Amino acid sequence: MHDQAEMLRKRLGDDKKQAKVCAIASGKGGVGKSNVTVNLAISLAQSGSRVIVLDLDIGMANLDILMGVHSKANIVDLVEQELSILEIVENGPGKINYIAGGNGLNRLFQLNERQFEHFTEQLQVIHELYDYIFLDMGAGVSKDSLQFITAADEVLLVTTPEPTAITDAYAMLKFILKQEPATKVSVIVNRVENTTEGREIGKRIQLASTQFLQKEIQLLGVLPDDEVVFKAVKQQIPYMIHSPSSPVSRGMKQLSDTYKKGSEMKEMQEEGFIQRFSRYFFRKQGAK
Ligand SMILES: Nc1ncnc2c1ncn2[C@@H]1O[C@H](COP(=O)(O)OP(=O)(O)O)[C@@H](O)[C@H]1O
Ligand SMILES: [Mg+2]
Repeated sequence: MHDQAEMLRKRLGDDKKQAKVCAIASGKGGVGKSNVTVNLAISLAQSGSRVIVLDLDIGMANLDILMGVHSKANIVDLVEQELSILEIVENGPGKINYIAGGNGLNRLFQLNERQFEHFTEQLQVIHELYDYIFLDMGAGVSKDSLQFITAADEVLLVTTPEPTAITDAYAMLKFILKQEPATKVSVIVNRVENTTEGREIGKRIQLASTQFLQKEIQLLGVLPDDEVVFKAVKQQIPYMIHSPSSPVSRGMKQLSDTYKKGSEMKEMQEEGFIQRFSRYFFRKQGAK
């Protein structure tokens, strides 16, 4: 097993030009992950970055609905029919690209070695073509989806001001860090009544993290609760395009500027996403 991981590492070569892989996660469902994913992606694309979004929400792969696009094939087809990844990349709104999740997405988390090899080869292709790869994850975390979350260069943890969402976000943070203490995590507080409220919640999570988990995390930004989001979702047009000057879109622009600045200063990690992902895969295989 170990040899295979080593061979794969050699085949992939050094991390050349590599996209930054970012997993968007939450403890509780319905907190706004998918809207954050799509609109952050659009905002980054508007400032010149090449961004692709992968729908990895097993229970509710619904990004196509949110963006008003139809996909011919999805990520499960990629693995099961050994398609080339470029065959399943769709054009989303606002110059972003997109790969659909589809039904049976749970099978993506149970790859055999041959499928795994094909999958990582295909991932490598987009890894070299984009600046950012966003993974829209389901709420919570399973043993399998964890592999994607902890392999990502960064996790954006989304919460709302609701106490249940905050508690679940913290539980999620704890779980991720238990598996992989080195994971870089940033928090986004969505649907805040005002900036002060959002920042206070962010600070509380940061404090709990330093005190009880010995981990510094960043508060990436806060986004207002805005009725525009509902209207935009209903019309299947992401809010950054539907209402670019609304409070939530202005908030998102600010957040994406902060995010971009942060990733430009990205410290070079020894391993990239695919290397880490492979390491977890072979570890899991070995444990079988
Ligand atoms: N900033 C916001 N302001 C108002 N409503 C929001 C906001 N963000 C999300 N919502 C509402 O929450 C719903 C769920 O958002 P979604 O992105 O699908 O969440 P998730 O992907 O976490 O399940 C949206 O359809 C929208 O009605
Ligand atoms: Mg979602």
